[in-house]
Amino acid sequence: MLASNLKSWRFLRFVAVVTPLCLLFFYILHVNWEPLHRSLSIQSNQAQKTPSKPPSSQTDTTPASAPSSSRPISGHSNDPYRTAILGIPDKVWQSAKTNQLEQNQREWVYTWTEKNPYHRQELLTDQSAETFVRAKFAKTRPDIVELYESIPIPILRADLLRYLMVLAEGGIWSDLDATCETKVSEWVPEEYRDQEIDMIVGLEFDMQWFGEGSQVASQFCNWVFAGKPSSRHLQSVVDAVARTLRGIAADNHVPMQQLTLEMLSDVVDVTGPKIMTIWVLNSLSEALNRTVDDRDFHAIKQPKLIGDLLIMPGNSFAALQNGNPTDQSPALVSHHYWGSWKDADAEAKEHKKKLKEEKEAEEKKKEEEKKKDEEERKKAEEAKKQAEEAQEQSQGA
Ligand SMILES: *[C@@H]1O[C@H](CO)[C@@H](O)[C@H](O)[C@H]1NC(C)=O
Repeated sequence: MLASNLKSWRFLRFVAVVTPLCLLFFYILHVNWEPLHRSLSIQSNQAQKTPSKPPSSQTDTTPASAPSSSRPISGHSNDPYRTAILGIPDKVWQSAKTNQLEQNQREWVYTWTEKNPYHRQELLTDQSAETFVRAKFAKTRPDIVELYESIPIPILRADLLRYLMVLAEGGIWSDLDATCETKVSEWVPEEYRDQEIDMIVGLEFDMQWFGEGSQVASQFCNWVFAGKPSSRHLQSVVDAVARTLRGIAADNHVPMQQLTLEMLSDVVDVTGPKIMTIWVLNSLSEALNRTVDDRDFHAIKQPKLIGDLLIMPGNSFAALQNGNPTDQSPALVSHHYWGSWKDADAEAKEHKKKLKEEKEAEEKKKEEEKKKDEEERKKAEEAKKQAEEAQEQSQGA
């Protein structure tokens, strides 16, 4: 009797000690398992992407941005699968001719996963891009696949490809010479974090409105932008690029394969940032049933959501281009103008010159129209006078 009492007392004591220990063990396992697993897979992914990252630049890495940092805080939601920007996949897209990147390009490419360890990153080469475009668009848009494959000018292809990559799967596009300076989960201001965003663009040229009837004077850059999968605004850009290219080929009576740079007015108008700006705004204007132009975003200091288009101020993506303003929200991306055919200054000057020329041409056209109208009015008056005179004469007779 006494012995069995003692036994059950010991057993109870054993249970009392072991149970909390077990609970603690499983709790620790549960808390640590998922992030541990993820950071391991990300580190191996980075090792693949940047195989020859020199150890010297490792010392620049601040502890805060180390790949093992905790999951980024995104918005207010407790949804563990919520992306850094609501509705936009945690993915960075890039492309290059081949996978043989220069040392500085590799370092720039690395900034994206360094700052955003939970983002995936994919670089398409000329060859893998063809596979990608075919895989993504052959069923839905065979015309786009045909167009893409027949464009003979690499810079035009490169422009179209970036739109297609983000259109197909969503994410962030970055040129090889653009670096991430602020982690993506901090790009969208608190007030917009639960809003639906179709596309994010940043001002490259922040210009005042040019007046009624003129084209948008500002320009969004296309070295960095973001979009959700099947973005409506990007769809509008892709369709405009396709129409424009086909138009130029038709005007010159050549098949697309024989298009030359001499047949184009300017690459920015045909596939580049200018046509992107015009058609993103056109698509937004259509969606909102009102004209959206420079007046809506010129000189903004903070990101501004108009409909479902988030527009970043000049400092965000193009600080250098906009004179490194100190009164705007922080720089998110730096553009290093490497391997591009013009530097920042030359591009800005050219943009202004072109705007001026367009404006002058427009004014000339308006003046001519006014003159023509006046002449017609005079003619009509004379005819009326003659008719009246003739009537008087016939009445007199
Ligand atoms: C768009 O706006 C115009 C006036 O600006 C209005 O007459 C028209 O009904 C609107 N259309 C829609 C679909 O809201």
